[in-house]
Amino acid sequence: MKILFAASEIYPLIKTGGLADVAGALPVALRNKGHDIKLIMPAYQGILNKVAPIQKSINLGNPFGVGDLLLLETHIPDNDTPIWLLQCQALYEREDGPYVDKNGVDFQDNHLRFAALSWAIATLALHGNLIDWQADILHLNDWQTGFAAAYLKSWKVNHIPIVTTVHNLRYNGSFDMNQFSDTHLSAELLSMHGMEFYGRFSGLKAGLVYADAITTVSPTYAQEILTPEYGDGLDGTLRAMQDKLSGILNGVDYNQWSPEKDTLIPQNYGIDTLHLKQTNKLALLRENSLSEDLNYPVFGVVSRLTEQKGLDLVLQVMPALLEKGARLIVLGSGDKYLESGYLELQKKYPQQVAVRIGYFEDYSHRIQAGIDALLIPSRFEPCGLTQLYALKYATLPVVRQTGGLADTVFEEGDKDNGFVFKEADEESLKLAMERCMACFYDGNRWQQKQQNAMCYDYSWEAVTDQWVDLYQSLLNR
Ligand code: ADP
Ligand code: GLC
Repeated sequence: MKILFAASEIYPLIKTGGLADVAGALPVALRNKGHDIKLIMPAYQGILNKVAPIQKSINLGNPFGVGDLLLLETHIPDNDTPIWLLQCQALYEREDGPYVDKNGVDFQDNHLRFAALSWAIATLALHGNLIDWQADILHLNDWQTGFAAAYLKSWKVNHIPIVTTVHNLRYNGSFDMNQFSDTHLSAELLSMHGMEFYGRFSGLKAGLVYADAITTVSPTYAQEILTPEYGDGLDGTLRAMQDKLSGILNGVDYNQWSPEKDTLIPQNYGIDTLHLKQTNKLALLRENSLSEDLNYPVFGVVSRLTEQKGLDLVLQVMPALLEKGARLIVLGSGDKYLESGYLELQKKYPQQVAVRIGYFEDYSHRIQAGIDALLIPSRFEPCGLTQLYALKYATLPVVRQTGGLADTVFEEGDKDNGFVFKEADEESLKLAMERCMACFYDGNRWQQKQQNAMCYDYSWEAVTDQWVDLYQSLLNR
């Protein structure tokens, strides 16, 4: 099968969260099964230094009046995956991240930046002759590429089947109606059954309503988003389209994320050499000038600091646990009140708490290898990848039972691999963390759980067949 896979971030070229990990790894897993995949993403500033030399360039003209859109053909050096980069200086060459400026504020012209990307995606899906490669399936991810489904609808043409994957319903990519004309989409699409969303227009809703299949990144989240509590205003739309919605769990690229092979951690280890994990713990404490006593549990956080992740709860309960000897290592960035909350905590407990604000890929590996338990008390979590990484590193996750966390972390019987709580409140989190600490002090039980955790196989290989079956079912229609 030939699949055109579109995303706004792809690891290792650019990453702000789990979407990049998925877009970097699922296509590789599909290629390993013999499928023909091409990626498409914007040529953000600095990206051209990270890819192989450009093989071909196609000028798509200047449809939005902000400069020519150039498609550059290359591949990702690490794994040889073919990729088309959409170049347009006015839209994509900025010093800051892919979506926001240095103050964390969304770029004013995001509607246009991602409409242009989506327009190029739709053009490639429709006119394979432009690149001598006609896709069979178009796979879109999140709101930034969702507009592509709207262009194909707007052009009133027969086109290849579209799959839209929702990584996070909270980010619906909706914009003020007075910006709609910038997209050059047909106003016919602006009905409540189309891409209109509470008086605005939404890239995600376009991706949903005009897709042939919708997936989310875990089976539980696929159920949750049908309810008002988790539906973010789109639950009605989704309920009406339930027959085309399914949940396929994300996987892990164990070439990047396994303690046996990881080149970014001080000491490799495996299930038979679990005691060597201590070397990583000591190195992590030392790196952060924390007290080096290995007899206390070290909790960790590697996360965007947003309301979604429930990390305000950790701030509430942490002092009580620090008094009992726990340690805390935090890596994250996001909402300012959380950033300053964690920095305050560090000030109060300089021997026990280490906080780093920012985005550091290498450090995130050292944390996964060095901590004892990873905290993920999310209010909602479409899939979550960090708990999957943690399990392989024999780092036990403490999670709220929601979305992909509920599908992958268990505190019971044979499946036992972490600590799970139900309600998104301080008391429930605190009790789970106390269970975690008690288990830590009971060395045998802890080790048993660690071994269980390491045995879980959440690889992409384990789920690629589900993707192939889904694509195939659309082609058989
Ligand atoms: P989300 O996509 O909602 O942010 P996921 O758990 O799916 O959550 O994926 C987050 C990804 O981003 C993981 O690979 C995680 O290690 C990484 N990550 C998050 N915050 C940071 C950070 N501050 N520095 C480095 N990596 C981070
Ligand atoms: C989103 C979700 C996260 C998921 C990731 C990759 O950012 O918040 O739960 O793991 O996408 O699908």
